Amino acid sequence: MTSTEDRLRDRVAEQLRRSRQRSIDLTEAVDDDELVRQHSRLMSPLVWDLAHIGNQEELWLVRDVGGREPVRSDIDELYDAFQHPRADRPALPLLAPTEARTYVREVRDKVFDVLERTPLEGRRLLDQGFAFGMIVQHEQQHDETMLATHQLRVGAPVLHAPDPPPAIPPARREVLVPGGEFSMGTLTEPWALDNERPAFRTRVDPFFIDTVPVSNGDYQAFIAADGYHDSRWWSEEGWAHRQRAVLEAPRFWQRDGDGWLRACFGVVEPVRADEPVVHVCFHEAAAYARWAGRRLPTEPEWEKAARFDPATGRSRRFPWGDDDPGPEHANLGQRHLRPAPVGSYPAGESPLGVRQLMGDVWEWVDSGFQPYPGFAAFPYREYSEVFFGGDYKMLRGGSFGTDASAVRGTFRNWDHPVRRQIFAGFRCARDATPDEAT
Ligand code: AVJ
Ligand code: FE
Repeated sequence: MTSTEDRLRDRVAEQLRRSRQRSIDLTEAVDDDELVRQHSRLMSPLVWDLAHIGNQEELWLVRDVGGREPVRSDIDELYDAFQHPRADRPALPLLAPTEARTYVREVRDKVFDVLERTPLEGRRLLDQGFAFGMIVQHEQQHDETMLATHQLRVGAPVLHAPDPPPAIPPARREVLVPGGEFSMGTLTEPWALDNERPAFRTRVDPFFIDTVPVSNGDYQAFIAADGYHDSRWWSEEGWAHRQRAVLEAPRFWQRDGDGWLRACFGVVEPVRADEPVVHVCFHEAAAYARWAGRRLPTEPEWEKAARFDPATGRSRRFPWGDDDPGPEHANLGQRHLRPAPVGSYPAGESPLGVRQLMGDVWEWVDSGFQPYPGFAAFPYREYSEVFFGGDYKMLRGGSFGTDASAVRGTFRNWDHPVRRQIFAGFRCARDATPDEAT
């Protein structure tokens, strides 16, 4: 007979194996020289991410949960993200690729032993396997970061994947999200991180949101209308940044006669007009929206559009319901190396008819990073709490490079508003006028 706890252990083990396979694939795709090199000052060398994944796993699962002796007690400081900025990491005395691989393997072997022997109850950290889920998500988050490093590297392509499915255009371009209260955040999602908790009631005014993200074709119209050179569309901070950084187009784009090319994991190709725009910063997203006579949604608006079911008044785990993401719902998990064309994944749409909220591109929303009412840091302040109130904008929904285990309707991501190396795009919203709202 298999107990509920055995089934939970099997699920944890399966998720641990999947995340590790992905880390191995991302780091074996390049030679040792490329693993230790700085591809961008914005990113760590890939070999740092790999050993940092192992170190975080050692700290929480081997030492804390398992109560075991350290695998290596000499490297914690090297792999503490708060000790060394990314740009400085290549110069540290890091574990060499072979040592890093051995280290993460030794940690993982111990973790499987801990998983077998530890009752998944009795401590909040262990409830429903939370500590293991947190570590699975941590590895997957760094895998997405490593994927972004791959996009920044120069040289022949080393990653390959089939194209995502084609679009099936939705009936409407925008839909009305009713005003009023809904439940934001979560009380019940077992592996939700501290910043998603607790659930609370909040309200939004009625607003319209686009059924699909802004496409490259849409965005090219903004460029063609000289939007990058017209300060009217930019916030003061955004304009200052545009001038300083000399922004002219999304990151990885280059002009090609009248058109545009873009580099995608080492392949230079014509920009595909029907794909969601990606590699734009918050300021570019906000400027586009203003030029288009629209605005970005706020974080509560995005979450209501993604989760609210008007038929029941409930908030769902995902736009399509409470089932875990499948390949029919969303472009997640690096199955493809690009966002799917706008209008794809009709099976993943929300009750209100909004598509591609999960996967494809992270969506910038116009909110800073603040705790929800009743927030309590868990299990450590450095995941969320130390970032509250900083110079960040929120991103929701995950990208093609986000694993299903590391995103959900309540998941909150954040980054500096100038960052473009992440797989971020956006969708537009607008206020509903009083007669539109009824
Ligand atoms: C939540 C994606 C902003 O990658 O900086 C990884 C996740 N925290 N290791 C990041 C994280 C610690 C974090 N983000
Ligand atoms: Fe980390």
